[in-house]
Amino acid sequence: MATTPTRTSNSHPAPGAPETGAGRAEAVPIALWPVAQATAATQRARRYLPASTAHPGKMLPALAARIVAEYSRPGDLVVDPMCGTGTTLVEAAGLARRAVGLELEPKWAALARANLAHALDPAARRLAQVRVGDATALPGRLANLAGTVDLVCTSPPYGCEAGIIDKPGWLAGGRLCPPDSRDYSDDPANLGHARGDDYAVAMAAVYSGCWALLRPGGILVAVTKNTRRGGRLLDLAALTVTLARQAGFAYLQHVVALHAAVRDSALVGRPSYWQLTAVRAARAKGLPVHLVAHEDVIVMVKPGPSTRKGAAGGR
Ligand SMILES: C[S@@+](CC[C@H](N)C(=O)[O-])C[C@H]1O[C@@H](n2cnc3c(N)ncnc32)[C@H](O)[C@@H]1O
Repeated sequence: MATTPTRTSNSHPAPGAPETGAGRAEAVPIALWPVAQATAATQRARRYLPASTAHPGKMLPALAARIVAEYSRPGDLVVDPMCGTGTTLVEAAGLARRAVGLELEPKWAALARANLAHALDPAARRLAQVRVGDATALPGRLANLAGTVDLVCTSPPYGCEAGIIDKPGWLAGGRLCPPDSRDYSDDPANLGHARGDDYAVAMAAVYSGCWALLRPGGILVAVTKNTRRGGRLLDLAALTVTLARQAGFAYLQHVVALHAAVRDSALVGRPSYWQLTAVRAARAKGLPVHLVAHEDVIVMVKPGPSTRKGAAGGR
């Protein structure tokens, strides 16, 4: 399976690429990364604390590691402004990058710190830090990093209403997912609750903040997933490209992160509980939906001559 980027024909729009002002779609290189050859549980086993299973929207460690390896170098500074359990930070520091995470919820920030301590040796652990704060106010929260970051890697909330599974409570006749755990918490400031224009406005602020943090030539990677609500497609990939462009970024690459394992000539699906539940509910209503087996990884660059330390002409 080819996993290297290939430039698309100008006559075929890249996935998620919105129309340009001239009415033509911009083509970007596309890559396919098979990041689920091992299950999420296997990828996390021993390296991440079991408590991490409580977080309803984690990035696959293999995907975070691949993003860090592709778009940064050892010694670079990597930021995840919505770091959740700290997957980006663990993988970045494990690959000898400096890493800073921001997370709105103190409980997830504490878990991210615990994962760093659990997964890394003391030297690597010193490369990473986690702060509590709101990603819509990034320049203020991480003001000391302005213009110095090499890579921002993040997976924004999807508005998918996922929550913490309470299996014992469910077996005892209660709810499978307590309402106050939906969308990561019951804090309305959590963007997991934001929908429609509110979501777009908030994420526009996040991407503007990322632009301010990155050095010229720095890379923004957003891991997104297209979902359906009430039968309608929420094209988060296209929205993300649009918002990032409005913040000043250029569209560099589109990666399809395959969430099914490749076994000889077959694909083995790895759906989450939430995906299965949503697809079964939609089919029960007669909607002919299928499981989505990939995430769209949107790769954007902050234009300008590179200010990378010690690199002449490097990105
Ligand atoms: C899709 S999850 C990211 C998961 C993370 N990549 C991981 O592997 O654990 C999105 C995260 O964004 C956080 N979040 C939501 N709104 C936020 C905000 N305004 N500022 C910072 N973090 C926020 C959520 O609490 C959640 O942990």
